[in-house]
Amino acid sequence: MSVVKINVLTVPAEMRETLEKRFSNRAGLVESADGFEWFELLRPVEGTDLYLVYTRWRSEEDFQRWQESQAFQRGHAQAAAERGGEGHGQAQGQAHGHGHGHGHGQGPAASASEVWTFEVVQNASPAS
Ligand code: HEM
Repeated sequence: MSVVKINVLTVPAEMRETLEKRFSNRAGLVESADGFEWFELLRPVEGTDLYLVYTRWRSEEDFQRWQESQAFQRGHAQAAAERGGEGHGQAQGQAHGHGHGHGHGQGPAASASEVWTFEVVQNASPAS
């Protein structure tokens, strides 16, 4: 069964637009990663302020391989550049508190992030 990896982003209100713009300019490389199955950027509407970057993979190993790949680094190039080239978004469950929240498109759009992991127990799609 597939595995779901959700990168959970804390995004100050004034950085939402910046974050969404970064994603609309995203590299589009994840689509070619081996074992990649699905991606969605989820904007919070009610019940939470957290943005979710939902990804689904054939296996944990496929996700790990993508995270260690150049495609991952290049897919996070904007985010890395704005962190001063310090890294490339290696979220391994720990929070990243780099945020300064000064809404001018400078610095990271997210002030913190963590990764949630799920196993898909069941799924369904519309009957055709
Ligand atoms: C420190 C942790 C992370 C932060 C702050 C972060 C933030 C971002 C941002 C702002 C983008 C837009 C592109 C850019 O600005 O370069 C992006 C792209 C993306 N992120 Fe992350 N990310 C992190 C780690 C992760 C992880 C662990 C996953 C997997 C669950 C993930 C999934 C994605 C995907 C699928 C894309 C699109 C890449 C593509 O199109 O090839 N990110 N991320």
